[in-house]
Amino acid sequence: MVFDYIDGGADDEIARFEGQGAFHDYRLAHRVLSGVDKPNMSAKVMGQKLDVPFILSPAAGNRLFHTDGEIGPAKAAEKVGTVYCLSTLSSRSIEEISALTRGPKWFQLYVWKDRVLVKEMLARAKKAGYTALVLTVDFPITGNRERDPRNGFTIPPKLGPKQIWHALNAPLWSLDYVTKSSVKYANLAEDTSAVSLNEFVASQLSADFSWDDAEWLLGEWNGPAMIKGVARSDDAIRAVKTGFNAISLSNHGGRQLGCSPAPIHCVQDVRQAIGSEADLVVDGGVRRGTDVLKAIALGATAVSFARPYLFGLAAFGTAGAVQVVSQIAEAVERDMILAGIGSLGQLDESFIRYLK
Ligand SMILES: Cc1cc2nc3c(=O)[nH]c(=O)nc-3n(C[C@H](O)[C@H](O)[C@H](O)COP(=O)(O)O)c2cc1C
Repeated sequence: MVFDYIDGGADDEIARFEGQGAFHDYRLAHRVLSGVDKPNMSAKVMGQKLDVPFILSPAAGNRLFHTDGEIGPAKAAEKVGTVYCLSTLSSRSIEEISALTRGPKWFQLYVWKDRVLVKEMLARAKKAGYTALVLTVDFPITGNRERDPRNGFTIPPKLGPKQIWHALNAPLWSLDYVTKSSVKYANLAEDTSAVSLNEFVASQLSADFSWDDAEWLLGEWNGPAMIKGVARSDDAIRAVKTGFNAISLSNHGGRQLGCSPAPIHCVQDVRQAIGSEADLVVDGGVRRGTDVLKAIALGATAVSFARPYLFGLAAFGTAGAVQVVSQIAEAVERDMILAGIGSLGQLDESFIRYLK
């Protein structure tokens, strides 16, 4: 059930699997004899230098997957020299992650109804050294994820025959879950228990949040900011006008609108629409080094992903997250050599072959 919670998407999971599969619509025409043996993988997003052209997307409640929780991906990002983006709904607090890890960090915000609470969160993130804000806008309500009710899965998990069966099939996870700290949303008040995500979202999130509210929020934050969850050129143009410095082309890993387009398919249109006025991050379905190179060749500044490090975390805690993220960094380097690319600036559409 925990695997399904991470892996699953909304409705018929079309967006979930197309997000990943759409990378197969492109091939990379490699360049030969270009003398590349040590490629430069560095990229810059919102002025933040990255040693690798990817960042780690925010994901809620990592304690559910392993007791290390968000420490795992934060350490993994630090290891490869990139940004870790902490979710509002993290199970380790803004301050704890800041104190325990040294790499650059951004803070992802869902918008609460209570603006005082929003301001408080922003102030805490700023004080703890988070250098950019990521506003997630594709989550006005929770998507229809059918694997979870089918498994009887809730956060925190309930105990019934189905859940016991799942637990028996994953003894190491069960031992970790039962013997270590309990699941909580650490950025909320101590007395806010981790009720089911649906109830939580219904009570706290603000589905009527508008562009005017986004402008208010940017004024409150007064620093670099990325909007996460954009699929259309007109929204991208509006985001730039509103003052966002970066746009994350994302459909929440196919967990929200079940039939939204694959983020990789949106890159060219959006890049054409906004020119060089904002950075573009492709979020969703990135699994291979070649996926990273394809996104950049099509016009992205960098990419991001969540499930790969979440599976690593769930399997082996921090060591697992570090291993997965390091493997993706190694893959990017290997594929740059194989494609004959010395630095990411050399990538353009001449490398792309379309299959559709
Ligand atoms: C288990 C899980 C929890 C997530 N929680 C959040 C979250 O709290 N905030 C957010 O902006 N996105 C969240 N996302 C979406 C990711 O940030 C990201 O957009 C998506 O997972 C990218 O697709 P990929 O996992 O296939 O790489 C979550 C995704 C998963 C799988």
